[in-house]
Amino acid sequence: MAKHTVVTMPGDGIGNQVLPQALRVLKAVGFEANYLPADIGWECWRNEGNALPERTIDLLAKHKLGLFGAITSKPNREAQAELKPELRGKGQVYYSPIVTMRQRFNLDVCMRPCVGFPGNPLNYIRKNPGAAGFEEPSIDSTIFRQNTEGMYAGIEWTNPPENVRAALRSHAKFKAFAQVPGADLAVSVRLITRSAARRIVNAAFQYAKKRGFPGVTICEKPNVLRETSGMMEETAKDVAKDYPGIALWSTNIDAQLMWLNKNPEDYNVIVASNLFGDILSDAFAGLVGGLGFAASGNIGEEVAVFEPTHGSAPKYAALDPPIVNPIAMILSAAMMLDHIGESTRAESIRKAIAAVVREGKVRTYDMLRLAGGPKALSQGAASTHEMTDAILEKLN
Ligand code: NAI
Ligand code: MG
Repeated sequence: MAKHTVVTMPGDGIGNQVLPQALRVLKAVGFEANYLPADIGWECWRNEGNALPERTIDLLAKHKLGLFGAITSKPNREAQAELKPELRGKGQVYYSPIVTMRQRFNLDVCMRPCVGFPGNPLNYIRKNPGAAGFEEPSIDSTIFRQNTEGMYAGIEWTNPPENVRAALRSHAKFKAFAQVPGADLAVSVRLITRSAARRIVNAAFQYAKKRGFPGVTICEKPNVLRETSGMMEETAKDVAKDYPGIALWSTNIDAQLMWLNKNPEDYNVIVASNLFGDILSDAFAGLVGGLGFAASGNIGEEVAVFEPTHGSAPKYAALDPPIVNPIAMILSAAMMLDHIGESTRAESIRKAIAAVVREGKVRTYDMLRLAGGPKALSQGAASTHEMTDAILEKLN
């Protein structure tokens, strides 16, 4: 096996607890790599006025593969107050390092699998008139979220400058708002480009093809957002022509959220623009165990970074031993293996996790629906380390 180099960015809080657990598992499946630890997050902001230092960007640019834990971000006022004194008042602006990373490397395809592990007490169930009174459908849904534009393109104003207002006035629908004072008017631009739409839809179809799924669902709102959702849907129809055996279904975001409460098992691959994909992936993740199980990949043409979707959970970061669930991070590492063609190893990781979950002897506090905190362990929850130990045991 060619030796890979992976840039590891644990970041803040529990990122530092879960990322090392993923490395233990990667080692156990025989994945040999050089790991290059890199700085990202709140400490970088405080000490350097930049949450994503150039040295980390350089490492990613060079090695093209990253594993990321989580970062802490805080509102602007707190961000300024926590800068080290020499840096204060020098015009430093806090930018989310993840958003910056996605933009800098055009990590435009965000892949978020939401796959239920049988036996997980957090799995979605629904009423059924049969003997058990309920049923647990098997959910295997992956959301493809456009990661760099749409509602999160970052083009926004409160009190837009006059040239922007003039452009808005040129639209007939703006008449109704023309008299609103600037300070009372906020505008966020929802921007979609055809090439990025093509890439995200194509990634969804490629995945459906690889997994043998019968269709892809484009989830937008083209009846109202005629231009932007319209372009997403039109592009999806166009891309679908390249995949004759795979159907293209179309749902509206509002209806889709209703469907996922009724028949989530019917959706294997969903593709959406940035905000809708963000909402959909959290909603689906809630059906299969929530943040402790939600993995993701940010995939560009050159660089790819894999991360759990959860944040730094500061309230648990100081607990010793750590109690948070490492599975989301470990699943993210498995996604990284898939990405570099190491699917056999990835599959054995997922099988080991499935075995631990099915057996049900080792469960972190979230899986037991306990309140997080130092008491959780004495109430029967496994620690972060114990959960990883259990997974490693199944690998042996
Ligand atoms: P969070 O994801 O850190 O935590 C939300 C809740 O989910 C926590 O209270 C905890 O109960 C639970 N949780 C999270 N990860 C868990 C795990 N692995 N196992 C078990 N339970 C887990 O989100 P929150 O509290 O909104 O934000 C905390 C910080 O994280 C903020 O500074 C926020 O900006 C940042 N954040 C960073 C993200 C990233 O790095 N990708 C994503 C989301 C938030
Ligand atoms: Mg989110």
